Amino acid sequence: MNRIPFVAGNWKMNKTVAEARELVARMSAPLSTIPNVEKVICPPFTSLMAVSEALNGTGIGLGAQDLHWEEKGAFTGQVAPNMVKEFCSYVIIGHSERRTYFGETDETVNRKVHAALKAGLTPIVCVGETLGQYESGLTSEVVRRQINAGLAGIDPAIASRIVIAYEPVWAIGTGKASSGENAQGVHSRVIRPALSGLFGESNAQAIRILYGGSVTAANAAEFFAQPDIDGALVGGASLKPEEFIAITKAAVK
Ligand code: PGA
Repeated sequence: MNRIPFVAGNWKMNKTVAEARELVARMSAPLSTIPNVEKVICPPFTSLMAVSEALNGTGIGLGAQDLHWEEKGAFTGQVAPNMVKEFCSYVIIGHSERRTYFGETDETVNRKVHAALKAGLTPIVCVGETLGQYESGLTSEVVRRQINAGLAGIDPAIASRIVIAYEPVWAIGTGKASSGENAQGVHSRVIRPALSGLFGESNAQAIRILYGGSVTAANAAEFFAQPDIDGALVGGASLKPEEFIAITKAAVK
């Protein structure tokens, strides 16, 4: 299966509008010349309008870091799918920081994935086990549950639009990345079979599964060499233009 590599930068809660413009100006031209990789930048909500203008015509996609599932109404502080869609084609859903600090559950992830797909957005759905779960040998069980519950009820006919990011919590922002081999094992033995169970084998083969957690220019190639790792969700290194450009180049097949 020929899956187009996918590299997304998650800026998390970093950059004012002026800083976001400056960062994009430093990376958009070199990124835009990298062929055959789907490239996405995910700044905070407040910078989406400015960054969408800056990315115009570059071929680089724009994503939000979250959304709410309701279409409108009395939900103070939330942003609706069609509001995200005004600027973005992508949205990160279920990031471990949202699960840990903001009460995100498999059920809210599921509502958000349905809402994102309905709005025409590409959801980047994050899964991954904590350090305690990893050490207790619960990785497969936890990740399988997150996939099955998070993607429940999605129509198989549109499932190939979904992107999955496997991000072991112990690897996020710690400088302790998983090995390529360990991530490949989770992708090929847990995530893709779970996707196949939900959507059928040919859809499962079409879905991109990214690795995330302390990806750098130095270790990116090790991940991209694995047959079931189709790209990366990059946090810290996506704020450094040279690093993010080098990671994206390493994704070219
Ligand atoms: P990191 O973050 O690359 O800084 O580890 C990854 C993520 O949270 O998506």
